[in-house]
Amino acid sequence: MARLKINKQKKLSKINAEIYGHFSEHLGRCIYEGIYVGENSPIPNVNGMRCDVVEALKHIKVPVLRWPGGCFADEYHWKDGIGAKENRKKIINTHWGGVVEDNSFGTHEYFELCKQLGCKTYVNGNLGSGTVQEMSEWVEYMTFEGVSPMAQLRTENGSEKAWTVDYFGVGNENWGCGGNMNPDFYANEYRRYQTYVRNYNSEKPISKICCGANVDDYEWTEEVLKTCFNHSPAFLHGFMDGLSLHYYVHPEGWEIKGSATDFDKETFYKTLYKALFIETLIKNHGLIMDKYDPEKKIGMIVDEWGTWYTVEEGTNPGFLYQQNTMRDALVAGLSLNIFNKHSDRVKMANLAQIVNVLQAVILTEGDKMVKTPTYHVFDLYKHHQDAVLLDSSIDTEEIGTYEWKIPNLTESVSINKNGVINITVTNLSADKSYEINTEIDEYENISAQILTNEMHAMNTFEKPDTVEIKEFNNFEKTQTGFKFNIPACSVVHFAVK
Ligand code: AHR
Repeated sequence: MARLKINKQKKLSKINAEIYGHFSEHLGRCIYEGIYVGENSPIPNVNGMRCDVVEALKHIKVPVLRWPGGCFADEYHWKDGIGAKENRKKIINTHWGGVVEDNSFGTHEYFELCKQLGCKTYVNGNLGSGTVQEMSEWVEYMTFEGVSPMAQLRTENGSEKAWTVDYFGVGNENWGCGGNMNPDFYANEYRRYQTYVRNYNSEKPISKICCGANVDDYEWTEEVLKTCFNHSPAFLHGFMDGLSLHYYVHPEGWEIKGSATDFDKETFYKTLYKALFIETLIKNHGLIMDKYDPEKKIGMIVDEWGTWYTVEEGTNPGFLYQQNTMRDALVAGLSLNIFNKHSDRVKMANLAQIVNVLQAVILTEGDKMVKTPTYHVFDLYKHHQDAVLLDSSIDTEEIGTYEWKIPNLTESVSINKNGVINITVTNLSADKSYEINTEIDEYENISAQILTNEMHAMNTFEKPDTVEIKEFNNFEKTQTGFKFNIPACSVVHFAVK
């Protein structure tokens, strides 16, 4: 029997709610159709935002939403998306399918969406093709409340009150789609651009996020930090609050990617193996960050992560639309357990992307909406938000196929402000259940929920409830805590008081 040991006395780092963050880009049907349908749509909406989608997202307590990209961000000129909608510029979305972007969703609409969701804001600025002045004016437009040209323009556009920008990204993937820069070139640009990301509201300072590495490009992390920190006393004063990291799981590699729904057991384990690599990345990039920032003041911001498969047949290849199965639920569960365990450094993570793109939590088709297996994992894990990580460990055994060996179980444990201990466990085996003995000492009661099904199981518009959360009662009290049997291919959440 595997042992899950929980040390209630050993409280570790705070699990920032933002680790459960999301990402919305002007890409395919993420914003348009997926979230924003416009005020005149027959689909029920409030100020253009779909009621069904907003309600579902509120249920999983989306803590923060990144916008407008992604690659789109470094080609986005924010002034195209303000003012009367009929006058807004129609542009080509060069990155994503070459379709017309009519800019009907812009800055005001983004803040309206975040207000409806009750979440923090994370705006990604344009360093790749925008000017310092443009970025600086956007910040002024969004956050300055006194007398100024941009505050005046915002007022003329209907918002006298300034908004709060919690996080601001100074460029995106500037090693690639954001300008193909070298690390030292980007770092010097970062130093310059961030200078003009002014904090107009000292009570709500903007956290500035520097563009970090792609996957295991450790040289990028080293060089960017070296150049940023060299000769810059300013770094002590809100110079850099976060450094991003992007990691996507492509089962068959970047070129082929692989199907979202049609896979064998070997590919199943290969996908989980590749997903587990995020822990190595966090550790290795973290070691470099430790050299420059031993007190861990700069957060690691995993602002793009998730599975990226071949697009669904018959859909626009530039729209990155894919289905979502129990395999994705396990990727989500194991990744969130890893982020929790590294919450001393990982301060935010944003799943790519929130609706209709890549590992989406929601899929839409016309007026229909489906919650994916990944959605349900975020529902099970939401209890970790802003709780404190507890020291824990679990016995594991190696499973998988010859080349793709993985541990059978992953877990993380936290305690919230009401003293409730939340435990999340994933069983990564496609076909084997396990007995787990949990050592936790005294408790009064336990409730538990489970998400489990065959590895290919998914929710479709015809059958939206194939994969859903169920109550879980398969546990019993022991002298040292409780034991339970975790079914194959499942994610379980326990609340222990
Ligand atoms: O999420 C899709 C794209 O992946 C993003 O726009 C970009 O930042 C990354 O390459």
